Order: sequence, then structure tokens, then C-alpha cells
Amino acid sequence: MENINWEKLPFGYIKTDYNVRCYYKNGKWGQIEVSSSEQIPLHMAATSLHYGQQAFEGMKAFTGKDGKIRLFRWEENAKRMQNSAKGIMMAVPPIELFKKMLTKVIRKNKKYVPPYGKGASLYIRPLLIGTGPQVGVRPSDEYLLVMFVTPVGPYFKKGFSPVSMLITREFDRAAPQGTGKYKVGGNYAASLTSMKKAHDGGHANVLYLDAKEKKYIDECGPANFFGIKNNTYITPKSDSILPSITNRSLITLAEHLGLKTERRPVLLEELSSFDEVGACGTAAVISPINKITDKETGIDYTYGNEPGKISTMLYNKLISIQTGDEEDLFGWVEIIE
Ligand code: PLP
Ligand code: COI
Repeated sequence: MENINWEKLPFGYIKTDYNVRCYYKNGKWGQIEVSSSEQIPLHMAATSLHYGQQAFEGMKAFTGKDGKIRLFRWEENAKRMQNSAKGIMMAVPPIELFKKMLTKVIRKNKKYVPPYGKGASLYIRPLLIGTGPQVGVRPSDEYLLVMFVTPVGPYFKKGFSPVSMLITREFDRAAPQGTGKYKVGGNYAASLTSMKKAHDGGHANVLYLDAKEKKYIDECGPANFFGIKNNTYITPKSDSILPSITNRSLITLAEHLGLKTERRPVLLEELSSFDEVGACGTAAVISPINKITDKETGIDYTYGNEPGKISTMLYNKLISIQTGDEEDLFGWVEIIE
């Protein structure tokens, strides 16, 4: 694509040529449709519009040095979408359908997969919405699964360069037994006001505490949190955070690199004991954190202004596997011909 400046891509929407869609009606999924329209015709009483019956996913595909397109851990995203669908009583897309749509939407938009070495990737966004009309609060009988793609650069403007985070007790993202573990739009709507506060204060995002006791670390905007000390990768265990596929991959890589790993409740006070901290996710990859400001206590937790040694090692390892520079020892990458 001549008119795309791959190196300068933001994490945003760029129109591509095609998207794929599949409707669920009368208790079954229909045929996959290819569309070049950016619009979805939708009933004004659709449950997705009124009662938040919607879930989404995010995945990335990369071009390797060999020119081949590599898709990272798509099956985990398919399973998570199934889980989100069950969590808010939507029709559950079969893994096979998810895969077929994914392959089709990537193949149809091959020219938008950023070339190797530009620090960019093709972001794939599956979206599942309730399309059937209801006025009473109940699940829809009809659903639409749509997948579109867009080439993206780094989520946090600085890329692999430390950002700061804000802790505030004024807002929660998700309730202890609520929908935090599902990838549903309502969680993101609930994060917008606090995110704005963070941005206004010069922070990249909010580091959420657990909503019940405000004692433990939950997650970090649209990303999971990790900290490193004593050669150990530590990440919060919580029922109200999204189970991040990137985080799970980093745990595997950390173990492979000889680190210990722990997934357990992480006390707020523990922030002062970490050597390195960061946010991780598909969009964020690893974003090292150099400062966490606790608004209410006034405490600043500070870390290095350069990415830490272990975060850098993990970042390089993950990216090398995703782009095919390193052997895919874990079977995480699928080549899309
Ligand atoms: N947490 C939240 C709230 C997210 O939106 C995301 C992004 O998907 C993540 C964590 C990271 O998850 P993953 O690594 O699977 O992209
Ligand atoms: C992702 O990392 O894929 C996400 O979904 C984050 C997104 C909400 C921007």
C-alpha cells in the first residue's frame, strides 16, 4: 500500500477493503458473507444497543522476514470469545467458524498486513452483537459475528518506552463478581471517565485496584499488569480482570528463560518492591511503566526511565516469535497462506 506510512501508524482505524460477517438466526449460524461496507444495518431495539449484549476480541497478524503472514494464538481468542458469549447469554460462535472467518478476512486484506520490520501489525477485531429486538431485559434470539481488520502501530504512543499510570479509588472498572473477566463493551465504557482523568494528569492509563477492598492490583487499562523482582515474574490473580493471552504467553516465556513465575493476589504496597513493572496485552504488547501515582495517598512508585532488562528480554522474545525471527517452540503461530 503506497499511501500508508507503516512506521508512523497509530493504533487506530484505517479503512480496508473487506470485512466478513455471519448471522445467527433460528438457532443456527448461516453462511459467511464478505462485505465491503463499513456499515451494519441494525434494528433500533437490538439488544446490543440497549442492554450491552456485545463482546469483542483483538488479535494481531504479522509479516515475517520470509514474507509469510503469521497469526498469533488465534484459538485462545476464539475460546475467550466463546466464554464472553456464554457470560452474557449470547449465541456461542463455533471455533471452526471463528477460524474460517479469520482466515478469510486476512486473505481478503493481505495488502494491509504491514511489511516486516516496520513495528506494525494487522489488528483483527471480531465483534459479536445481539441484533434481535427486545424491549424487556432478555437475551436476543439473533446475533451477528463480524470481523474487520486494520493496520496498527503501538497502542501507547511511546511504543516500547516507559509510561506512567494513575491509581485512583474514585472509579472501578468491574465488580468482583461482574463482567470484568469477559471482553464486553460495558467494561470499557466503565473505564472511560477514569481513563480521561489519567490522560488529563499526563498518565497513559489507570492501574485499577480490586473493587471490593482496594487492597490489591487488578489490571492496567486495556492490559494486564506484571511486576518483576527476585528473578520472578509476578502477575495478579483476580476474577475481575481479563485473562490476557499475552500475559499467559509471557509467563511461559519467563519460565523458558529460567525465571520463576507467580500468579497470585498482588498487594498495592508490593508496588514499592518491584524492580520492573509493566502492562501487557495484544494492543499494548509490553508497555514498561516508569511511574505509578497513587492519587489519594500521594505516593509515587518510581521505576527506571529505560525499559528494564527482563521486560526487554521478554518483549524481544515475544516479538521474535510473532514475526517468525525465532523458532515457534510453543506452537503459537499459524501461517496464513
Ligand atoms: N485486559 C483488558 C481489559 C484488555 O482489554 C486486554 C486486551 O485484550 C487485555 C487485558 C490483554 O489481553 P490479551 O493479551 O489477550 O490481548
Ligand atoms: C487488545 O489488546 O486487543 C485490546 O482489545 C485492547 C483494546 C481495547 C484497545
